[in-house]
Amino acid sequence: MSKVSIIGAYNTKFGAFVERNRETGEIKDLKSIYELITEAGQGALRDAGLDPREVDGIWMGACSPSMFVNQEHVAPLGLEVAPEVMRFIPTFRTEAACASSSSAIYNAAFAVESGRFRRVLVIGVEKMNLLSTKDVTHALACCSHWPSEGAKGSTFPMLFAEYAKGYQAHYELTSDQLRIMLAHVAALGYRNGLQNPLAHFGKGSPPDKLGLTSAHAILALPDEGKGSNPMVAPPLRLHDCSLVSDGAAAVVLAPTAEARARGRRAVEIAGIGMVTERLPEYLRPNMHELIAGKLAVKKSFEEAGVTIRDVDFAEVHDCFTINQILSTEALGLSKDGQGGHDYVAGRFTAGDDCPVNLSGGLKAKGHPVGATGASMHALAFKQLVGEPIGQAPLAKKHPEIGVTFNVGGSAATNCVTTLRRVS
Ligand code: COA
Repeated sequence: MSKVSIIGAYNTKFGAFVERNRETGEIKDLKSIYELITEAGQGALRDAGLDPREVDGIWMGACSPSMFVNQEHVAPLGLEVAPEVMRFIPTFRTEAACASSSSAIYNAAFAVESGRFRRVLVIGVEKMNLLSTKDVTHALACCSHWPSEGAKGSTFPMLFAEYAKGYQAHYELTSDQLRIMLAHVAALGYRNGLQNPLAHFGKGSPPDKLGLTSAHAILALPDEGKGSNPMVAPPLRLHDCSLVSDGAAAVVLAPTAEARARGRRAVEIAGIGMVTERLPEYLRPNMHELIAGKLAVKKSFEEAGVTIRDVDFAEVHDCFTINQILSTEALGLSKDGQGGHDYVAGRFTAGDDCPVNLSGGLKAKGHPVGATGASMHALAFKQLVGEPIGQAPLAKKHPEIGVTFNVGGSAATNCVTTLRRVS
């Protein structure tokens, strides 16, 4: 089967694009899901230098648009990227919670590999901020195993708190040790976010104003009041949680051979591991590692013929700071149980052999859930072709290999893509 490459990419700015009238409670949508989809799709085609007529299929990743914006059946909205020429091409939608658009890329790549499709557009999108935090929490909880989790009042912060507790217990960490580790992860995200013009929490954001660029500053915050770091789901606090964001990202896929022949800049999908864990957390044998995530890494690296030592940077799924530590260990960047210590020691910054989350991650770049996987791929593409946007520039020149690690639900869907610069 032929290999597939990303030949163009685009990421909208992430943020909360709404205006709330405090007196009337009315909410104005400043950038709709429709605008986000069109902006991302058109941007990716422009970046690829592709005429929309050449696109023969669209894949859309979205987590829960019916709950967030009352819009189901979002795949056809992809046609609005260029309605006059794209009308009538096939469109598809994938849903895999926060890995919805990595799942779209997986399926779209398979379609191109098969030969049935030649050039496809993959868009990931989510518009979350029209809802209150309470309603967002409910919509997200629908991605848990409802009978054993959501229906019993479990929220996503609570489900990942189980991993934080499992990690703490297994590695016999004190509460303070764990808290310090998590604060280092958050501070790294905020520091990188300051260099990302597309970030939800970039320059001028609350963490910037509060000077939260060090773990020390985060740890010094009070537990309550304005500018505090309250407990959300013990042991996870506000600054351990990803953001509720609006945004979209898109990539264009084509056979590598065609990209080469046309002299296009291309980044090959060298290996993908898509591994699914059973949905209910209570069925998992332990809560201190990403068992399925590790298998996804193995598959992705084996298919690409690389090891972690070949990887120049990683974008990982820090939906909660604990998951950044678990993903770092699953990738093999840290030994099991060592990830938290490595963040405290200052590893994984732009100057490291393999920096993690140069974009600021879900903590600072933001987490419009259905867009996150496509965003990781889009930013990795831009970094690999030497036009970094949305990621702090790497200290190392001319990176060749980047890896994205996108998780859906409470680490149920695990998608690891190894990306290799072709030209
Ligand atoms: N991290 C850091 N600061 C945050 C934040 C977050 N995740 N969310 C909000 N804030 C800040 C706001 O900017 C605001 O600051 P300001 O007062 O200086 O303007 C302040 O905290 C209060 O914001 P508010 O919107 O009222 O917060 P909230 O209590 O409604 O929401 C969370 C906070 C943590 C509950 C929410 O961000 C959340 O649910 N995050 C997780 C999302 C999730 O589960 N995604 C899926 C993962 S699998």
